[in-house]
Amino acid sequence: MAIDTLTTIQETRARLDEARAAGKRIGFVPTMGFLHDGHASLMRAAREDNDIVMASIFVNPLQFAADEDLSDYPRDLERDTELADTNGVDILFVPTVDEMHPLGPVLTTVTVDEISTRWEGATRPTHFAGVATVVSKLFNICGPARAYFGEKDYQQLAVIRRMVADLSIPVDVVGCPIIREDDGLAMSSRNTYLTPEQREAAPVLRRALDAGIAAIDHGATDPVAVVKVMTSFINEEPLAELDYAAAVDAATLETPDVLLGEIRLLIAAQVGRPRLIDNAGATMGL
Ligand code: PAJ
Repeated sequence: MAIDTLTTIQETRARLDEARAAGKRIGFVPTMGFLHDGHASLMRAAREDNDIVMASIFVNPLQFAADEDLSDYPRDLERDTELADTNGVDILFVPTVDEMHPLGPVLTTVTVDEISTRWEGATRPTHFAGVATVVSKLFNICGPARAYFGEKDYQQLAVIRRMVADLSIPVDVVGCPIIREDDGLAMSSRNTYLTPEQREAAPVLRRALDAGIAAIDHGATDPVAVVKVMTSFINEEPLAELDYAAAVDAATLETPDVLLGEIRLLIAAQVGRPRLIDNAGATMGL
């Protein structure tokens, strides 16, 4: 089946109502476009598990702060459509801001407390409310059985999982592994902002995470010690400026006194224009 690009909520709902009435299960992949293999991996996972795959491309104004890159966020709908088609998407929903918000200002916001305020949320205080609000709206438009999110944005995945649990939204949230370039840099639409020199420096985030995981493998259980290891790696790279490094509980994203059970290492650093984020998981035995 060739991909269908739909731009209105009404026609998208009509198509998906019809599919659900025929007993089909819908898999949903929300994106902001400028697609790469990270996005494609979510589409392929959705294709495997569902009858109908819908992806959306919407550069969501609610999740950008005033000084962020909303107006020049990279876009390439033609290439994106081809990538989505190749990776099994049936319906590509590409609404305008007016279509999504015909009444103008959005007065209703979904806020996930606590988990949204740390790490990314400390630097971008309105970001996760913008994400949670648009994702719940997209869920209401699409009515998916499953929705696919990348572990690349680990805190976003945790926020969405918590929102779905707290509000009893009838969707299974599926987390998918981080897709990386050959040198370890996590794929991101914003990597396009890197100069060649910064691009060369950018895999330092992954190296810092690897060093943190190695410290854990060698028996480190103190989060402060693990963070120190990661920090020293970033500090050695003059083109990278650390925002935060953290060793946290994988579900709550809180720093425990002692690392135990499912742990996530999180890192964020400014490398030239983009703020890059990355993370890695470890399981600490009892
Ligand atoms: P965007 O940054 O376009 O990412 C869309 C999805 O692709 C997210 O679930 C993200 O985690 C995943 N993704 C991005 N890079 C990845 C990589 N290297 N490996 C695996 N998955 C990757 O995240 C957003 O858009 C928005 O916040 C959105 C959820 C669409 C709400 O506006």
